[in-house]
Amino acid sequence: MRLEHRSNGRSHIRGDPQTLGTRLGAQDLRRLVVDHFDSPRINVHALIVRLALPPPDLLNSPPPRLPTSPLPREHVRFESVPQPRSPSPVPFSMNLIDLRSDTVTRPTPEMRKAIANAEVGDEVLGDDPTVRKLEEKFAAHLGKPAACFVPTGTMANQTAIRAHTEPGDEIICSEGSHIIHYETGGPAALSGCMVRTIAHPRGLFDVADVTPMVRQDAYHFPHSRLLTVENTHNRGGGTVWPLEQIQRVTAEARKHKLRLHLDGARLWNASVASGVAMKEYAKHFDTISCCFSKGLGAPIGSAVAGDPEIILRVQRFKKMFGGMTRQVGILAAAALYAMDNHVQRLAEDHANAKRLAELIANIPGLSIALAPVETNIVYFDIAKDVPLDAQQLSDKLKSQNVLMLATGPRRIRCVTHLDVTAPMIDSAVQAIESSVTGRVTGRMPVGV
Ligand SMILES: Cc1ncc(COP(=O)(O)O)c(C=O)c1O
Repeated sequence: MRLEHRSNGRSHIRGDPQTLGTRLGAQDLRRLVVDHFDSPRINVHALIVRLALPPPDLLNSPPPRLPTSPLPREHVRFESVPQPRSPSPVPFSMNLIDLRSDTVTRPTPEMRKAIANAEVGDEVLGDDPTVRKLEEKFAAHLGKPAACFVPTGTMANQTAIRAHTEPGDEIICSEGSHIIHYETGGPAALSGCMVRTIAHPRGLFDVADVTPMVRQDAYHFPHSRLLTVENTHNRGGGTVWPLEQIQRVTAEARKHKLRLHLDGARLWNASVASGVAMKEYAKHFDTISCCFSKGLGAPIGSAVAGDPEIILRVQRFKKMFGGMTRQVGILAAAALYAMDNHVQRLAEDHANAKRLAELIANIPGLSIALAPVETNIVYFDIAKDVPLDAQQLSDKLKSQNVLMLATGPRRIRCVTHLDVTAPMIDSAVQAIESSVTGRVTGRMPVGV
């Protein structure tokens, strides 16, 4: 038996005529499959048996099944199907400089203490005092009467979208928004909504972009129901929406009776960078979602704030989507700790990101794609004449304990956070420079 790996990522197992004889029956086929379960190269669930019988035997008789009678050995081929790409796990190391995302932080010892000491109860029965405390504090922070704690930013956005809309409605988002790119088609799957997108390289559309996106009121059109804004805008480069622009855009949306949702996964960063209180942004929206698990460094958790009526619907869909949990106060405690202790320090992340961008801008062959850097996200591009694409550069950096995310063929994203210090930025830049230019600058990257 032979296992062939092809350049297209598929593998073929072929029977060896010498050892298997000339004919195979169903038992032999099963044995071949079972033997290959032991192969680390093949995923059991991905293994399909393709019976390449000569046409027309199988061509017109779907679905093909294992035959019970013997079939010619040369007509048997096993094929493993390439698996969906999932990132390979990176084991934790003290030397790691992990700039892939601000979601990679680990709870600090103080946060762990808060988790250990949390009072808890059954959340579904409304008994968890720490969750209630967090929801009240978060709502007050955003100047809204109610809030709902949810496990993720994705669930926060998707429960809010579901709460505002009916199937067949249309929502309007920026083309680069997280809701569109990274929430697995949630608006279509969970809310039955169409999405209309506004193109803007940094995610900061304006009134003139919104107005033409709103449908006329005619029976054959979907209802334009909801406008979403993302602040800071992740794919836009951590951009901060100017408050006046939010006022203009939301006022225009209200004229058209649109509801308004703010994806404020990193609204904390926007607020610290601009000096505008979160409730000043929030007052222009019906619902606002924020994450505790990004710059704030909690291991999990987001929340949606709004009026009680809409939050009741958010809670209902949280339950429907499987997000209502039990003694989750241990996680709410981490979020409370993060709100109390990790907001103002975001300014350090912003300073580190700015410095990172400035140093990268000096490296020949690299350019900063989305300047200026306003918060904790830095994208840079690799020039065509550099003999490394983004994935190769990120692999090369990984071998030096520096992690960054290839987000396009020649684009890399770095995000600063709680576990990244200023000396780490210098070390990361040295690693980038030596990888791109081949020049070794003397000092080795250190994870300090
Ligand atoms: C802008 C934005 N919204 C929502 C989310 C979703 O958060 P989560 O990963 O917790 O689902 C993210 C995650 O990075 C994000 O960047």
